[in-house]
Amino acid sequence: MSEMTGDLKYILYTEELIQETVSKLAERINAEYKGKEPLFVGILKGSFVFMADLIRKIDLKCSVDFMVVSSYGSGRSSTGAVKINKDLSEDIEGRDVILVEDILDSGLTLSYLIKYLQVRKPASIRICTLLDKPARRTTEIVADYTGIICPDEFIVGYGLDYAEKYRNLPYIGVLKPEAYV
Ligand code: IMP
Ligand code: MG
Repeated sequence: MSEMTGDLKYILYTEELIQETVSKLAERINAEYKGKEPLFVGILKGSFVFMADLIRKIDLKCSVDFMVVSSYGSGRSSTGAVKINKDLSEDIEGRDVILVEDILDSGLTLSYLIKYLQVRKPASIRICTLLDKPARRTTEIVADYTGIICPDEFIVGYGLDYAEKYRNLPYIGVLKPEAYV
């Protein structure tokens, strides 16, 4: 692990804080979806770690699906374009859909996806995001479930990458400027 931690300026959110946050989000969802069978849709790749932890704290008869979208390329700033590389494999008509995201940044990805999925007539669509960086929002979007409001820093770990690296860190940190190539 030291190979990666050397690239970090500091740890922003510890493993313990992240796990507590995920538990709180799951408790809210468990209470609000009682008696329902929601479909959790993870937005890949970033959400896979969060999804895996969240789902194991959900006490509902739920199902899971994934979409692969790219909005950022390999760098640090949005291209503005959202590309769907893999669509849902389940039909969502009449389903209670919960979109699971690692971080809500400009909001472009989720506002595009909600419009894209709305035409399939789900019973409901809500957003659950572990992190929210409101300083960078360029759209109106607000998440229904937000774990942590974060500062305007580029962060990595717990699913979040820089150029496809650091997703496997169990905590979230800020990279040193030298780590950007
Ligand atoms: P949005 O469309 O600008 O809201 O972008 C959301 C996506 O951008 C997330 O799912 C992440 O993949 C990526 N992203 C945004 N901020 C960061 C960051 O600080 N670190 C790593 N990835 C980020
Ligand atoms: Mg990314």
